Amino acid sequence: MKVPLLDLNAQYQPIRDELLAAVTEVFDTQQFILGPKVAECEKAVAEYCGCLHACGVSSGTDALLLALMCEGIGPGDAVVTSPYTFFATAGSIARVGAVPIFIDIDPVTYNLDPAKLTDFIATNCHKHDDTLTISHSCELVSIRGSSVRAIMPVHLYGQAADMDPILAIAKEHNLIVIEDACQAIGAEYKGRRAGSLGDYGCFSFYPSKNLNGAGDGGMVVTNDAARAEKLRMMRVHGETSRYHHRWVGGNFRFDAIQAAVITTKLAHLDGWTAARQANAERYGKLFQEAGLIGTGILSLPEVKTTRHVFNQYVVRVAPRDALKDFLAAKDIGTAIYYPVPLHRQECFAYLGYREGDLPESEKAARETLALPVYPELTAEQARHVVAAVGALDQPS
Ligand SMILES: Cc1ncc(COP(=O)(O)O)c(C=O)c1O
Repeated sequence: MKVPLLDLNAQYQPIRDELLAAVTEVFDTQQFILGPKVAECEKAVAEYCGCLHACGVSSGTDALLLALMCEGIGPGDAVVTSPYTFFATAGSIARVGAVPIFIDIDPVTYNLDPAKLTDFIATNCHKHDDTLTISHSCELVSIRGSSVRAIMPVHLYGQAADMDPILAIAKEHNLIVIEDACQAIGAEYKGRRAGSLGDYGCFSFYPSKNLNGAGDGGMVVTNDAARAEKLRMMRVHGETSRYHHRWVGGNFRFDAIQAAVITTKLAHLDGWTAARQANAERYGKLFQEAGLIGTGILSLPEVKTTRHVFNQYVVRVAPRDALKDFLAAKDIGTAIYYPVPLHRQECFAYLGYREGDLPESEKAARETLALPVYPELTAEQARHVVAAVGALDQPS
């Protein structure tokens, strides 16, 4: 039996007519950039996230970049984030000329550990002109003297980071909070939606996301009207009116076709999320029944927040690479998110992080494996995955 990691066709077929009608409407208007379809989509996503404003953009990466640009974060600045995430999180920080400061993760949720951030600040920072500044005694020479301007927590795999302490740290030190909620649309932390807790929430509509477009797309949400206004200008080259530029922004515009697809799919998102959650629960029961829990070989994801939306179902397993190959040979799709933590990426060598500096992220990179959890996964397919995992050490 073939079990892909994700089956977009299974999602598409039941809503094909609806989607094609929505896209045809855009073709019939011939308005492809911004316009009423984008405004309608922004309103729907803002409401879904419990936010007052939303600004559609070209991708999740551009959502992060735009939020940083709107705050004027740049050379001389530093932004705290997780090393265990998709590249775009830290890539966007480096692209505005700031330095990423990587804080290790909580090994259970895989999200930035606020206690480690508190320790980092106590050991390495001081206040200078009311700004949190990296001290000259900091071991990491590359970040000495930088002004810490923001925290960019990531809600990895669809589970919100521990936001209360993160928001408290941000408040104490006057830091902006930019949530990387690209994997977590609809996730909740103490009943509040991911993306609505900080100053900005950034989403991706990349095809592997729970709410996915027909190509690239993204959204920034905020509760601050002034920030929303600047986001809208910055996504069109900082324009205040046609050919009048207050800032240097970029082309981060959202396409009307993507907006039509996202608005149409949003109506199905809660059903898909419930199916992902049911699949995760089913895996839990099946792995338990198969006697694979508590053996020290496999550990399952833990739900620590009020709504985990399971963009990915990630287990820890030893030996991970052998299991991945074994499942691939049985036509079961899996993925490693992520094999190299960001502080060990070649392009960030200049920061000076060494192996061993962020041990939980490095360990997660060696041990984690994402199993198929997409909404249309059948009970039979899930049983097949669990049986295959259990068969690893047995001759096939
Ligand atoms: C955590 C995270 N941040 C940022 C991004 C970037 O989004 P995009 O691929 O839409 O640029 C993604 C998704 O790819 C992601 O998973």
